Amino acid sequence: MSKANQLAIAIGLAVATMATAHAQRAEVIHWWTSGGESAAVKELADAYTAAGGTWVDSAVAGGEAARAAAINRIVGGTPSTAAQFNTSKQFHDVIEGGLLNNVDEVAQKNNWDKLLPAAILNSIKVKGHYYAVPVNIHMPAWFWYSKPAFAKAGIKDEPKTPDEFFAALDKLKASGVVPLALGGQPWQEKLTFDALLAHVGGPDLYLKLYRDRDAKAVQSDAFKNVLVSFKRLKGYVDAGSPNRNWNDATSMVIAGKAGVQIMGDWAKGEFQAAHQTAGKEFGCFPGFGAKSPYIIAGDVFVFPKTNDATAIKAQHLLATTMTAPATQVAFNNKKGSIPIRTDVDAKSMDICAQMGIQVMKDPTRQLPNPEMLVSPDLTGVLQDIVTKYWNTNQTSDDAVKAIVAAIKD
Ligand code: GAL
Repeated sequence: MSKANQLAIAIGLAVATMATAHAQRAEVIHWWTSGGESAAVKELADAYTAAGGTWVDSAVAGGEAARAAAINRIVGGTPSTAAQFNTSKQFHDVIEGGLLNNVDEVAQKNNWDKLLPAAILNSIKVKGHYYAVPVNIHMPAWFWYSKPAFAKAGIKDEPKTPDEFFAALDKLKASGVVPLALGGQPWQEKLTFDALLAHVGGPDLYLKLYRDRDAKAVQSDAFKNVLVSFKRLKGYVDAGSPNRNWNDATSMVIAGKAGVQIMGDWAKGEFQAAHQTAGKEFGCFPGFGAKSPYIIAGDVFVFPKTNDATAIKAQHLLATTMTAPATQVAFNNKKGSIPIRTDVDAKSMDICAQMGIQVMKDPTRQLPNPEMLVSPDLTGVLQDIVTKYWNTNQTSDDAVKAIVAAIKD
């Protein structure tokens, strides 16, 4: 074959490959900008690229800002190919508005009904159609601690009760480190409150608020005790806390400047990015005692409405590569979360992930995260109430009144 023909064929092939890659161009809006998050999202991008696609990364710092950007693009008529939301009701209005494509084809082909936990299916499946691809299970109420700080403070065992936890915070304070690293932003303050509601108030009280909107339960002594315990944490937080980003708080524990952080297991991605190992430089526990509740949260990608066949093909390829077993392990290992599917080889995942995977086998310990149970509007109102209570000297009685008024609305 002549050199000229060989060259023509090679050029032809290159063009075809470029055309395919271009056809599978996918712009993805997400809010994963921290060190650990960036390393994790790259695993999704690499898997998509390996499958022949072109990943166009549109990172927007901060969940609220990223979700708003995605919705503005959808409403403005220039939607991205995919956008990140939490596994929740956050995108249900967009579904109601007919502004999302479903991924039924991928879901049925991959047997999601069998593969995915009920709490996740309930969030992504609306009127029998699948409107989002889940990529992980995050638990927002883990305890991350510095092993050196615990050792220096003379804390031998992980706290098994709220009282033991406060005793540990006292020891950390006495040893001269910041006992509790907290980022003073409304969503983090709400997350900390919800962690105490589940771990101190218990799963029933948690569900009475978020599932049942039970005013009597909110007016109970048990609920007041949760509010008082929440406010008591303030005595263990440093003056630099206001407006601190969550990953900067994690960095304090990584550096041993702080003893503990209450945060979702996305924090683990930061420890890993700092080359720290679970069980060695840092420890993790998902709550107090062997039967602590496990709040199910996480991330999904939705696919804005389009009739463009190539864009739909890209959306389906994204949904397929993001949920593939190998991608699930590679991504979740860096993200700090655990895979959405139980049929993956999770042996490479660390001790914290193994704990989470075990708990996911016990439905009696699982709690839907608040945003799976209440509307984004009520979530916003409750977040405002919690952040006001945390940042002012409002009494717990007044906070109770505000919450009762909000859930009655
Ligand atoms: C959560 C999200 C996590 C993590 C965190 C901090 O909403 O589910 O994946 O990224 O925000 O940005």
